[in-house]
Amino acid sequence: RKTYGIIVAAGKGKRMDTNINKQYIELKGKPILAHTLEVFEKCEVIDGVIVVVGESEEELCRVEIVDKYTYSKVVEIVVGGQERFDSVSNGIKALPKDCDIVVIHDGARPFVSTDIIKKSIETAEVYGSAIAAVPVKDTIKLVNNMQVEKTLDRKSLWAVQTPQTFKVKLLEEGFNTEFSKEVTDDSTIIEGLGYHPRIIEGSYSNIKITTPEDLLIAEMLIMKRGEGND
Ligand code: CTP
Ligand code: MG
Repeated sequence: RKTYGIIVAAGKGKRMDTNINKQYIELKGKPILAHTLEVFEKCEVIDGVIVVVGESEEELCRVEIVDKYTYSKVVEIVVGGQERFDSVSNGIKALPKDCDIVVIHDGARPFVSTDIIKKSIETAEVYGSAIAAVPVKDTIKLVNNMQVEKTLDRKSLWAVQTPQTFKVKLLEEGFNTEFSKEVTDDSTIIEGLGYHPRIIEGSYSNIKITTPEDLLIAEMLIMKRGEGND
């Protein structure tokens, strides 16, 4: 039984406001998506990787990333869909038959560590799921029409990241059951089955590169990593 990663990189990157897909923006001379794939490549508990890319970006991804940096674990490059869950769903369909555990990860999160990936796999083996998350730093309020309705208890609030790791059977069951099309993460899909996904501690460095200022933060994080303080 094997463990595969699905890296979703088929978004439009609208909030980044650049003319190229944000996954191909370079950090230290290397596309963001290549940095992400590199972590999976060197993580020994990952057997193979499926990359989900935007329409007509298959060639770009293959030539400029997978072949160029020789990521030998990439078994397939597939095209994603309109919403993130469409992209994940296409990734699941492309999984080899021997897949037992699947690690879903955002292409736009290049600062994930091999330790987080390993921990998420170990946890999913026991509990069926493992969602990386960090305690929120800000106080979060529930707001309606610019008016505070309620202040939430910060102690029980976690900001969810990826990787989100699952026993593949469980994830498939979730995707085969009716779910809200508003979902922005994968674990919500299994919550619909009555499961309570397991949280693991992610990292504050594991940012999702979303808006232009995240690129500045990413430059700093990559410098820090270069100094070996990962
Ligand atoms: N993603 C995807 N398919 C989609 C939407 C998102 O594969 N239809 C991927 C993105 O490429 C990204 C990850 O899911 O790696 C997280 O999504 P997000 O940060 O929202 O990226 P985008 O959707 O590209 O950005 P935006 O929402 O600003 O357009
Ligand atoms: Mg998006």
